[in-house]
Amino acid sequence: MVVALLVTAAFAAQASASLQNLLSPPTTFPNISACVSQPLVYSCENTTAIADTCCSPTPGGLVLQTQFWDTYTGLEHEGQLLPKGSWGIHGLWPDNCDGSFDQYCDFSRQFDPDPSPAVLPDGTTIPPYKGPGVDTFIQEFGRPDLLDYMNKYWINQGAPNRDFWAHEFSKHATCTSTFDIACYGPDYKKHQDVVDFYLAVVRAFQKYPTYNMLAASGISPSNKTTYTLDQLQTALKAQTGSIPYLGCGGKNGTILQEVWYFNHVLGTEQFGQLKGLDSTTESTCSTTEGIWYYERTPTSERNVFDLL
Ligand SMILES: *[C@@H]1O[C@H](CO)[C@@H](O)[C@H](O)[C@H]1NC(C)=O
Ligand SMILES: *[C@@H]1O[C@H](CO)[C@@H](O)[C@H](O)[C@H]1NC(C)=O
Ligand SMILES: *[C@@H]1O[C@H](CO)[C@@H](O)[C@H](O)[C@H]1NC(C)=O
Ligand SMILES: *[C@@H]1O[C@H](CO)[C@@H](O)[C@H](O)[C@H]1NC(C)=O
Repeated sequence: MVVALLVTAAFAAQASASLQNLLSPPTTFPNISACVSQPLVYSCENTTAIADTCCSPTPGGLVLQTQFWDTYTGLEHEGQLLPKGSWGIHGLWPDNCDGSFDQYCDFSRQFDPDPSPAVLPDGTTIPPYKGPGVDTFIQEFGRPDLLDYMNKYWINQGAPNRDFWAHEFSKHATCTSTFDIACYGPDYKKHQDVVDFYLAVVRAFQKYPTYNMLAASGISPSNKTTYTLDQLQTALKAQTGSIPYLGCGGKNGTILQEVWYFNHVLGTEQFGQLKGLDSTTESTCSTTEGIWYYERTPTSERNVFDLL
């Protein structure tokens, strides 16, 4: 009886906590009130040094929204499936203005269980993370909506999705100055920056619906026909105004796998307006042979219903 009551009470407390979260999720955004007095510039476009790095990603002002085209996940038996009618999210990367980049910039926010690379160019070993998954951080912030979206569109291959999300945060967001803990002010709540980064990635991803943009130009996945690199680039440029990086694998770069959209950003990366520009990296897809944009294995994808 006592046990039953205690259990009931525990359930009630949990239910009321999650109800509270539903009514008013804790805020995740940084305090950028100091940015209103800063000059407004696109990242990488003005040689005057950015005075407040919370207001514009510095030095990582060349912002890449990256996506994958996978045909399977390897964890289908666990229900880890790809989103039908959409490419998958890879991340949001802070390249330096010249295309070089930093990685794993803050070991106090190292949540990647399997760091890649394992050792930084300067010889420092990146400590693998052993704690709870980043999905628990999102739950603690009362954002089941975000978690649900990420599980639909941000899909790992060969390992759980949460490991991929952790990798992207620790490798890239820790080098994106507008997610620095200092930007969150004295009221910073642990992992606020992590949840905030994932929201920013989703916002940026939604600006680039690759599957639909290609399909609208008559380019759909096919196991019968190939496309030329020029056809793919032209279709995406016709809609975004810029040529993204297209990444291919397979023999001689004949299997389409990746797209990276290059941007400069006005304001923070959290809310910034992205301005597209041509890729600074040469495509790895063949310029002479046809490129396969393969259909997925039907049992590796599922219907998802979201505004995209
Ligand atoms: C944001 O930071 C400014 C100082 O830059 C401070 O005056 C203000 O109270 C802070 N706002 C919040 C909501 O913490
Ligand atoms: C660069 O920014 C400064 C302010 O920091 C501004 O005065 C100047 O006009 C800007 N230059 C360009 C080319 O936008
Ligand atoms: C790759 O390219 C080389 C040189 O152009 C060609 O000889 C070879 O047949 C190509 N391989 C495939 C699998 O198409
Ligand atoms: C298309 O080909 C890819 C690559 O061989 C394969 O993984 C996929 O299952 C195929 N899809 C269909 C619908 O046949």
